[in-house]
Amino acid sequence: MFVSEDLSINEKNHLVIGKNDTVELAKEYGTPLYVLDEDLLRKNMRVYKDAMDKYYNGNGLILYANKAFCTKYTCNIAKEEGLGCDVVSGGELYTAIKADFPMDKVFFHGNNKTVDELELAVSNGVGHIIVDNIYELLNLNEIAKKHGIVQDIMFRIKPGVDAHTHSFIQTGQIDSKFGVALENGEAFEIIKQAMKLSNVRVDGLHCHIGSQIFDIEPFCKAAQIMLNFMGDLKDKLGLKLDKLNLGGGYGIMYTENDDPVPYDEYIKTVSKVVKETANERGLDIPMIIMEPGRSIVAPAGITLYTVGGVKDIKNVRKYVSVDGGMGDNPRYILYQSEYSAVVANNASAKPQEKVTVAGKCCESGDLLIKDIMLPQINVGDTLAVLATGAYNYSMSSNYNRIPRPAVVAVSDGKSKIVVRRETYEDLIRYDV
Ligand code: LLP
Repeated sequence: MFVSEDLSINEKNHLVIGKNDTVELAKEYGTPLYVLDEDLLRKNMRVYKDAMDKYYNGNGLILYANKAFCTKYTCNIAKEEGLGCDVVSGGELYTAIKADFPMDKVFFHGNNKTVDELELAVSNGVGHIIVDNIYELLNLNEIAKKHGIVQDIMFRIKPGVDAHTHSFIQTGQIDSKFGVALENGEAFEIIKQAMKLSNVRVDGLHCHIGSQIFDIEPFCKAAQIMLNFMGDLKDKLGLKLDKLNLGGGYGIMYTENDDPVPYDEYIKTVSKVVKETANERGLDIPMIIMEPGRSIVAPAGITLYTVGGVKDIKNVRKYVSVDGGMGDNPRYILYQSEYSAVVANNASAKPQEKVTVAGKCCESGDLLIKDIMLPQINVGDTLAVLATGAYNYSMSSNYNRIPRPAVVAVSDGKSKIVVRRETYEDLIRYDV
């Protein structure tokens, strides 16, 4: 019935997550409220990890992509589940440091890392830096020299694969701000250059073709292209690379129209392609690294809102206004994304009318869901928007000086605050 089979309905007809009544959660912690199902979060991490063990003889590493939802809490869960993590800014790295994340399992991305960020990474012993461009390569070599170390690096490669997803979240094509391209020789040249530097050691390649992708085929194609490039580097430069990082991007179910591939299927299929292509090119089988974010955390999250008003504009549209909006979930305004929702206090009621769920920001485009079929909805109802675990909290803002919601983690009937709700005082704390 719901996009996540881990949600249920109790005898009061209320939506239940992690054995917690969502209406009670809304009462106890207030709304809007981000709720994360810790058990599902762990389960999703294990699906990837187990599949890597099963289909790739354990010669793989799953990194939790922090950009999807980065807090000390999520870093801790990833650490406990034995995952590595990727970070894409000094702030994400700092969070991982503060969560005592094992630094050798941290991979640092980004197309414009500052010298300060590189310093922070090197001085904290970050395992791998994914170098994006020549400026970064030279800066990093100097910083590593200053610290008397040789830094392990990978290069961000644009494999030239066209992933079928929203153009804002496509990243593997040549016209992208990320990384170096294969087809114009840029990637080959930068690696040749890196081999001459004494304080960096290239041990792998990285690519990420995009996000919310449903086909396996572009991932296989990317893996093949990357391995062939590894073959070329071995043949032409004598460079042996033992790691291949294939990024994240696996699609999830936001509505019933989405049909994601089971995640272990991706790993099974991609592993096969990697092994076959490595054999064809006479390469040792590399370690593979994958960086799922959305598919781990999105299904584990819901957001609870309180309905404050219903505006029925006859023959035009019925707006249902809630106490959050683009500040806590900017994905509709950015990508026209689609979500499912449930009236949490009347969870089994059948959909009967088409409504548009609007936020409370001073912006007409501030919608959460356009044209969704919902049951009769009344002021004071609790509305749960589903699968909001990824790229909601992490992309939230204080637009209109609206405080960010709290994040509550639930597990087996218990709940705890992992990020407290912002206050008005928080909003003015940097004003001087
Ligand atoms: N690795 C790299 C290098 C990435 O750039 C990304 C996502 C990931 C891993 C994780 O991808 P995932 O498995 O979560 O799809 N804000 C957008 C998504 C942007 C994704 C950026 N990179 C959204 O809300 O849809």
